[in-house]
Amino acid sequence: MKQRTPHHKTALAGFVLPLLLLGASAVRAQAADSVTQQGNAYLQMMNEMGGNPADFNIDDGKKLWSEKRGPKHASLQQCDLGLGPGVVKGAYAQLPRYFADTGRVQDLESRLVTCMETLQGLTVRQADQDHFAKEGGNASPLENIAMYVAHESDGMKIAIPQNTPQEKLAYENGKKLFFYRAGPFSFSCAACHSESGKRIKISALPNLTNAEAAQSYATWPAYPNSQGVARTLEWRMLACERQQRWPAPKFTSNAVIDLITYMGVNSNGATLQTPTFKR
Ligand code: HEC
Repeated sequence: MKQRTPHHKTALAGFVLPLLLLGASAVRAQAADSVTQQGNAYLQMMNEMGGNPADFNIDDGKKLWSEKRGPKHASLQQCDLGLGPGVVKGAYAQLPRYFADTGRVQDLESRLVTCMETLQGLTVRQADQDHFAKEGGNASPLENIAMYVAHESDGMKIAIPQNTPQEKLAYENGKKLFFYRAGPFSFSCAACHSESGKRIKISALPNLTNAEAAQSYATWPAYPNSQGVARTLEWRMLACERQQRWPAPKFTSNAVIDLITYMGVNSNGATLQTPTFKR
């Protein structure tokens, strides 16, 4: 019997106490969950109601696609987005991909800039002018065209190819960059996006390292309410590198395209829903 008291104490410290603590943290986690859920409830409502402010961008982009512009006075209707000249439907679901004519893996905006250069005779500078609209401002022609092209893949399955060595390298480099720690806080993307069920304030922090990435990736381009203007993944990369306290990446740079390839390939098989309404 003398032996039992210490045994009981051990039981309390080793089993009961951790159980109590576990219970408390589960309650906290549940409370955090419901805050995020409440915060996201209005987004869900907005998305279910249908109709999105970005619909105007899509309309403008559609017009711009067939409008004769630039020194060559040509439209983009012969632009090859990867599925052959002029094929828009489904093209975004397979971007980024490798293009032999440029020798690069290109994402949506990068490829559109190429088409504006080659078909319309615009310089890169002219083509990607004002590539990110001011908050609450008006989208640039490039952004509007991107919204239109992406929407033409709405409801289709993401199928980003990993066939060429260049495409495989883009994925590997994107992965490296995703886990690379740097900057004043030694943050990587993974610091905020490699666990499930996390949040900052009211914003859910999606896990982007596995198939869960699809829940985020597949909902872009989007209309983030806090921005007051439609946005694409190129913008999201800029905004998140800011979150990371890194210098702003160059528009359509390999770093950005590689990150998009990494998350996109992780999302293969998911159904695109674009545009969505976001926080
Ligand atoms: C310091 C934390 C932090 C870091 C580091 C960070 N992000 Fe984010 N990220 C966020 C937050 C917060 C949001 C949600 C913003 C919102 O809801 O307004 C977000 C949103 C996103 C989204 C969109 C999610 C969705 O469902 O719409 C993607 C994609 C993303 N981040 C990718 C990245 C990538 C790639 C990196 C590295 C370059 C990165 N993030 C680095 C905090 C971070």
